[in-house]
Amino acid sequence: MDAAAYEAAVKRVEDDPEGYWRDLAKRLDWMTFPTQIKDTSFHKHPFHIRWYADGVLNVSVNCLDRHLAERGDQVAIIWESDEGDISDNFTYRRLYEETCRMANVLKAKGVKKGDRVTIYLPMIPQTAIAMLACARIGAVHSVIFGGFSPDSIAGRIQDCDSRIVITADEGLRGGKAIPLKRNVDEALEQCPDVTDVIVIKRTKADVPMKAGRDAFYADLKQGVEATCEPEPMNAEDPLFILYTSGSTGKPKGVLHTTGGYLVWASHTHELVFDYRPGEVFWCTADVGWVTGHSYVVYGPLANAATSVMFEGVPNYPTTSRFWEVIDKHKVEIFYTAPTAIRSLMREGDEPVKKTSRSTLRLLGSVGEPINPEAWLWYHRVVGDSRCPVVDTYWQTETGACLATPLPGATAMKPGSCAKPLPGIKFELVDAEGKPLHGATSGNLVITDSWPGQMRTVYGDHERFFNTYFSTYGGKYFTGDGCRRDEDGYYWITGRVDDVINVSGHRLGTAEIESALVGNENVAEAAVVGYPHDVKGQGVYCFVTLKADVTPTDILQAELKGWVRREIGPFAAPDVVQFAPGLPKTRSGKIMRRILRKIAENDLSNLGDTSTLADPAVVDDLVKNRGG
Ligand code: WTA
Repeated sequence: MDAAAYEAAVKRVEDDPEGYWRDLAKRLDWMTFPTQIKDTSFHKHPFHIRWYADGVLNVSVNCLDRHLAERGDQVAIIWESDEGDISDNFTYRRLYEETCRMANVLKAKGVKKGDRVTIYLPMIPQTAIAMLACARIGAVHSVIFGGFSPDSIAGRIQDCDSRIVITADEGLRGGKAIPLKRNVDEALEQCPDVTDVIVIKRTKADVPMKAGRDAFYADLKQGVEATCEPEPMNAEDPLFILYTSGSTGKPKGVLHTTGGYLVWASHTHELVFDYRPGEVFWCTADVGWVTGHSYVVYGPLANAATSVMFEGVPNYPTTSRFWEVIDKHKVEIFYTAPTAIRSLMREGDEPVKKTSRSTLRLLGSVGEPINPEAWLWYHRVVGDSRCPVVDTYWQTETGACLATPLPGATAMKPGSCAKPLPGIKFELVDAEGKPLHGATSGNLVITDSWPGQMRTVYGDHERFFNTYFSTYGGKYFTGDGCRRDEDGYYWITGRVDDVINVSGHRLGTAEIESALVGNENVAEAAVVGYPHDVKGQGVYCFVTLKADVTPTDILQAELKGWVRREIGPFAAPDVVQFAPGLPKTRSGKIMRRILRKIAENDLSNLGDTSTLADPAVVDDLVKNRGG
């Protein structure tokens, strides 16, 4: 897309929104093409988000069947194993057959349209197959990132009342085995309603199998047919639930539906990455996060792309791994997270320069703000100064990308996600919700719907409205702070709520606090993020112990381990500081602003502490700063 085409598209959505959004839907194969296009209101009376509401389609047909005639023998998924010892190609035909088989296995287990299926798998092709198999029969998948702990798994299974779990014996990452089946077994002690566990063999480790509940997929698929009639789905039927962290309470089940989500995932995959038929596209995200859903599986496959699925990590066996995989599979488009770029940048240019990367054409970044230094290194060293960088801003809630520079249409500014895509209406507002104009900073809201928007919080529509639409009446609040410059470019400055972004993993500080107070030694905890060179943000915990507990280094380490086990290793605190008291207002509210400043070591600037119930606690916190 060039600049003129971008402007024309922006104008067309203004002048003829129905026509624009209808045309966009034509990129999919529908069993019944929708006549109702957009029916949305962000206001409480009435409040609803519906797209293409009378359309009928099946996502797996769009990702598989419709490509078979012309691209049946083209590779759909290139799988690269952790060790690099195995790479396995799944053509569209093979992926179609495997999906149908798994769909038939699920049906035989009694899974029906609308049932929730939990998927707790590593980065192996069977994960994509399981997702597509659910879509084929109209089941709703809930993928849980393999780094989550048994407790986190249990909470997610209970929340959506899922009766079946697909997992693997073990996962492999950076040479380490992850005990997936064991984690599931432990989780299921709290989930008596789960009737079936399907186990895929990845490492062939010996795992306990519970009679009557657990079965190996290899046994179940014996003799199962490789065709399966797709379930006709209404555009607004649920496709998946994906749990994500918010500023309060337990993780929310973000629900995406069938038609609008796929339109937006496939449209943005083509537009943002300028995807051209036959190219090899590699998004390094784990399928357990939304980026993996939209840009490893659904977007690329809907577009008949070749998508690389990588089981490993950026620095194993060596820090050249990413670049070697690019050469090995002749990757044209590479999409990763700033945290990976920063950690590899620390290793210097040599591990990059010793590889060719001559196939690379475009680079992408996602998940957190990218600092200009990392952006420049990515552009200059990885992309040899010849590949444009798309800095894509979006969220689990938005389904797929919202804002990014478009190569050829928008000039790049390192660290800016440039401008919203046609149809996405950004606005900056002040704390009272008053729209701000021109070059300024504010809270980022979106004033109108787009097809990929989440439809509800699973099981709690009220929470959906309250979380996103009540702060700035009738507008979707992203939770992000943002600056707009004199050229109308947007610069995301990070979350303004109590969500933190640690190595691109989204965490609620409330979740970590709740884990900490679950420990018998802890009376109270307050958690904030602070700037971290590699991880973007680190986790800083202020912990008040119970009166009879002695603060020791051992206890500090124990509490870090406790959070690892309660939530997952990626949530492990970087700092635990024992605090005899926390700074509170007289009404008992913890003043996080002050804690953030202490964590950031911005001590000259603690602001007004006179409203605190006991201003002296601040002195103690400053004196005993950890880090
Ligand atoms: C942040 C990941 C700056 C932002 C797709 C958002 C970004 C949160 C960018 C969503 C970017 C994502 N620049 N910040 N390009 N992309 N973010 O739900 O704070 O895991 O609200 O979705 O990540 O994280 P989530």
